[in-house]
Amino acid sequence: MTDTNGGVRTASARAHSNIALAKYWGKRDTPLNIPAVGSISITLDALHTDTTVTFDPALPHDQLVLDDREQPAARITPVLDLVRELGGFTVPAQVHSRNNFPTGAGLASSASGFAALVVAACRAAGVDATTRELSILARRGSASAARSLFGGYVELHTDLDSDGAYAEQLRDETEWPLSVVVAITDRGAKPVPSTAGMQATSATSPFYSAWVDNAESELALVRSAIAQRDFTALGERTEHSCLALHSLMFTTQPPLIYWNAATVALIHTVRELRASGTATYFTIDAGPQVKVLCQPQDADAIAAALASVTGVVETRISGLGAGAHTMPNHATGSH
Ligand code: DP6
Repeated sequence: MTDTNGGVRTASARAHSNIALAKYWGKRDTPLNIPAVGSISITLDALHTDTTVTFDPALPHDQLVLDDREQPAARITPVLDLVRELGGFTVPAQVHSRNNFPTGAGLASSASGFAALVVAACRAAGVDATTRELSILARRGSASAARSLFGGYVELHTDLDSDGAYAEQLRDETEWPLSVVVAITDRGAKPVPSTAGMQATSATSPFYSAWVDNAESELALVRSAIAQRDFTALGERTEHSCLALHSLMFTTQPPLIYWNAATVALIHTVRELRASGTATYFTIDAGPQVKVLCQPQDADAIAAALASVTGVVETRISGLGAGAHTMPNHATGSH
């Protein structure tokens, strides 16, 4: 914590984005933001959010500047309130946040964003929280953010009572290195945000109850693939979870179709690469980008193949990243 003149307290943090291999979609408890199903993700070192939180008694209310643009603070204030409650004060905050990738486009900017927010806010507030407590706080902002507190392979539990749904690391990022090639097909924000989309799905998709009933057995398969470092099994379960998620989305009324033509072309390209001997698997979230899982030595060739697909505007190769951590204040570029 930095406590400068006039009771101004500031701190900065960095968190990496993550992608789910076993997906979360649907809520068991909306006010507490507890997912209806557990999920397992990998943290990505190439995509991150840097955030500085400054509690300042001179501010009239919370303020958010995201990627140099002032934004409504409504979504971050409830999480800041939880931190202020723990810190025993009510001072408003200014939050400067910057993503090194497109925001709100299905690349999990809310995951890295809320993870960085809670780490910076707790540090600035002098709240000494464990990583598990930080994960619970981040979940209140966005459930996938609970996973970005940790590096490597991470599970977000939901089979727990009360407010305790938290994430835990299954394997460290150094124990089983993998790469992800992110193929960006559209940098724009998605038309339906995840929270609204999943509410519509649980209310209208006839597949929703099967999704919830099936989740635990899927999670067990993904956990076991990670424990055994079985890339084929992990890839197959990852594609299955992705396609089950999008089946839910397609059968939501009105339907949620996050894909564009390039998304479909990329799916076929990944399947062709696999048929010709390259071990690689796709996954897609609430947006048209395709994330492709592969062994590190294959990443460059796969990125080149994906970049040649019509409609791909950018490819990025990522390894597995570390958990969220504090940073020197100047590092976010907001001072
Ligand atoms: C498709 O975590 O963004 O990426 O908790 O409502 O903020 P909220 O939703 P969010 O949803 C992520 C959905 C997903 C799958 C996943 O990351 O598990």
